[in-house]
Amino acid sequence: MKIAVIGTGYVGLVVGACFAETGNDVICVDRDAVKVRTLRRGRIPIYEPGLEELVRRNRVEKRLVFTTRLPEAVKRSELVFIAVGTPTNEDGSADLQHVLAAAREVARSMNGYKVIVDKSTVPAGTSELVRDVIRRETTHPFSVVSNPEFLKQGAAVEDFLKPDRVVIGATDERAAELMIELYRPFTRTGAPIMIMDCASAELAKYAANAMLATRISFMNEVANVCDRFGADVDQVRRAVASDRRIGPAFLFPGVGYGGSCFPKDVKAIVRFSADRKYRFRILEAVEAVNESQKSRLLEKLDRHFGKSLKGKRIAVWGLSFKPRTDDMREAPAIPTIEGLLSRGARVTAFDPEAKDVARRIFGKRIQYAPRAYDALKGADALLVITEWNEFREPDFAKIKRLMRQPVIFDGRNIYDPAQIRELGFTYSSIGRP
Ligand SMILES: NC(=O)c1ccc[n+]([C@@H]2O[C@H](COP(=O)([O-])OP(=O)(O)OC[C@H]3O[C@@H](n4cnc5c(N)ncnc54)[C@H](O)[C@@H]3O)[C@@H](O)[C@H]2O)c1
Repeated sequence: MKIAVIGTGYVGLVVGACFAETGNDVICVDRDAVKVRTLRRGRIPIYEPGLEELVRRNRVEKRLVFTTRLPEAVKRSELVFIAVGTPTNEDGSADLQHVLAAAREVARSMNGYKVIVDKSTVPAGTSELVRDVIRRETTHPFSVVSNPEFLKQGAAVEDFLKPDRVVIGATDERAAELMIELYRPFTRTGAPIMIMDCASAELAKYAANAMLATRISFMNEVANVCDRFGADVDQVRRAVASDRRIGPAFLFPGVGYGGSCFPKDVKAIVRFSADRKYRFRILEAVEAVNESQKSRLLEKLDRHFGKSLKGKRIAVWGLSFKPRTDDMREAPAIPTIEGLLSRGARVTAFDPEAKDVARRIFGKRIQYAPRAYDALKGADALLVITEWNEFREPDFAKIKRLMRQPVIFDGRNIYDPAQIRELGFTYSSIGRP
């Protein structure tokens, strides 16, 4: 099939590369000329495991090309995916300006029947808006399909190639058939392709993210209660997770969820429910809990050092919002580091992939260590904020030698409290004695 993908970010690039991988001809469009130039040179502008190789292979085979010119891409494609950002407006709603602008541009470039597929995460009812925008701009026949994306950053390629399910909101059979054919290679192991109305497809994406965010905030509250009773949230979690009705995923307490999706999607669902006079109280609480959870480590630091960190050197391990990505959008590391700086601390941070992104956020206000251990020299405390695998089994003797004081605040509960205290560390984690 001939496919155009508008927006070559974390989602668009993965989607484009994976469709090319199954033999389709894909043009990825982005208005960011620097991004397109980088991609044309064979480099990828983000870190995502497995993506670079996939992009390279399909570029060499000429199944995957990059352009800033949307009209050409639309003209030679039958399927046009919109995968642009849907950030948060000030009132918490999803900002649809990029989606609608892309739809308008697509409509103006049409030269025959097209299926316009909305891959961006958009509120229920958006497909109607997209349909209206296109109808106003063209007389060519078209279908609008809603096809929300469920991939997770850090395992995006694998998720896309082996999805749990494919959700397609479609109102006509022709478009639905094309989508089923397109996704058939990805669902051979039995993952269902679910055809439904557009509003249900749009809502399914928000409901899934909101459920996962709810599990995280719920477990963070359990951890906070554990703290007050001297209970161990790890034990509680294991007991809860082994209930088959509940299961183990997304029950790990920490310093709050971040990223480009959970925070904005939770806000958006609260907002568009309110627009229809429904107050989504659970999700209001999920968001409030998450906000306060981001200051948990700082509170623990205050208890240990007092309110001022003047003259203290603090090492931070992990900056991205989760491991295996360089994405720092809404990362808990940001408010945590801001809190450290406002208390007068000098901060040295290390992250395997997010250093360059962090430099754009903090500039020279913090120092960036080239290797994990370099961050520890002369440090009065180490904060673990993102659970990259390389932090899990460090050389604790070396850590102790390098630090001025052997103090660890573990925001992801990756170390064993008994073991680490035996080694002479002062250790504090989330919801564990
Ligand atoms: N990041 C994720 O893990 C994830 C997962 C599932 C769904 N989503 C959803 O997918 C959508 C995209 O997310 P993302 O993380 O890839 O965003 P992103 O910000 O990384 O990428 C969006 C890209 O679109 C480009 N763009 C914007 N308007 C354009 C236009 N008119 N023409 C051409 N290019 C344009 C931007 O330059 C940017 O490169 C969002 O709605 C998001 O909620 C994201």
